[in-house]
Amino acid sequence: MASTREWFESVAEAQRRAKRRLPKSVYGALIGGAERGVTLEDNVNAFSELGFRPHIADLPQQRDQATTVLGQEISLPVIISPTGVQAVHPEGEVAVARAAAEAGTAIGLSSFASRSVEDVAAANPKTFFQMYWVGSKDRLLQRADRARRAGAKGLIITLDWTFAHRRDWGSPPIPEKLDIRAMAKFAPQVALRPLWLAEFLRAGQLPDLTTPNLSDGPGLPGPTFFGAYGEWMGTPLPTWDDIRWLRDEWGGPFMIKGIMHPDDARRAVDVGATAISVSNHGGNNLDGTPASIRVLPSVADAVGDQVEVLLDGGIRRGSDVVKALALGAKAVLIGRAYLWGMAANGQAGVTNVLQILRSGIDEALLGLGRSSIHELVKDDLIIPADFTRAPGPA
Ligand SMILES: Cc1cc2nc3c(=O)[nH]c(=O)nc-3n(C[C@H](O)[C@H](O)[C@H](O)COP(=O)(O)O)c2cc1C
Repeated sequence: MASTREWFESVAEAQRRAKRRLPKSVYGALIGGAERGVTLEDNVNAFSELGFRPHIADLPQQRDQATTVLGQEISLPVIISPTGVQAVHPEGEVAVARAAAEAGTAIGLSSFASRSVEDVAAANPKTFFQMYWVGSKDRLLQRADRARRAGAKGLIITLDWTFAHRRDWGSPPIPEKLDIRAMAKFAPQVALRPLWLAEFLRAGQLPDLTTPNLSDGPGLPGPTFFGAYGEWMGTPLPTWDDIRWLRDEWGGPFMIKGIMHPDDARRAVDVGATAISVSNHGGNNLDGTPASIRVLPSVADAVGDQVEVLLDGGIRRGSDVVKALALGAKAVLIGRAYLWGMAANGQAGVTNVLQILRSGIDEALLGLGRSSIHELVKDDLIIPADFTRAPGPA
């Protein structure tokens, strides 16, 4: 259980604790980024360029944060973004799912996650299963059907991946399998982080670097992360027709994640997506892509309310969420914020992060004189002229 000593008041503090607690390579894998990290930094810094235009009287006594995403009611406009290969905490995605359920919100579960969709959907009925385009169409359908049988309420297909793998500060080594031999190799790092290892040893296991949701069925052993990654690299890249096919086969709520171009947003509408996430994969993909918040207005203008527009990338505080909503997002997804919370204090740490965001959203609504997230408009913000970096003549 959380002790008050472990409670933290900001995501920045959760990050500091995660850094202290995790082995260097695990912490490095969470930070990630690509090449110089231009996009990684811009995702966070761009929010600081947006200002608020607050009011001081006639303010609303109550503020409402409830909304829906992919047909699910959520009590705050924040859901859990899918992240693979966490190795942050032995309970992994199940603990994240429980914390999200407790907060009244949904979880996107990565197909590269360490816990099965059956366990996660049992912990949180508002589970969306995320897939990449990996393997044959039969295999894709098999995985989607399995997720549906497990109770997943929506499918997320993530399309922004260029297999970028260079980082100027050096990529963290991820062992193929965390067995005793690999642990010995990582021993100096691990020895410096005894609390992290102790959590796993208490749970009677070493971090699981296999992918149970890519196995042939529930309970069967899944491929290792690298095995699955190899299959992905060998899979022909999908066309929009392929995406339409998957959407039709799935038939239920369907999100396309990774949109950064208004044209792609329109194509997503054409293929019948229920939702899109304006996202650059948390700066982990094509470096030099602008912050997702910069392109949100042009994407939202392109599709209006034909599709639910979400955003992820760089959300660290409630005021960031409010800025995204004012610029046209219906809700946001968070990645690193909850991973750091999890590293800092397990399930209670994820709860803590969601509480920080909920309080921050409430404070920003109060300051802006808005009684509901649904009242937020662009006019609530001060937006610098070059904020959106809209393409134009050079
Ligand atoms: C460690 C890590 C693993 C990730 N794995 C996945 C994944 O398996 N599937 C996916 O769609 N996105 C993945 N993402 C991207 C996140 O879903 C999300 O787009 C991103 O983290 C949002 O940015 P933020 O971390 O600044 O909130 C991953 C991100 C991180 C940091």
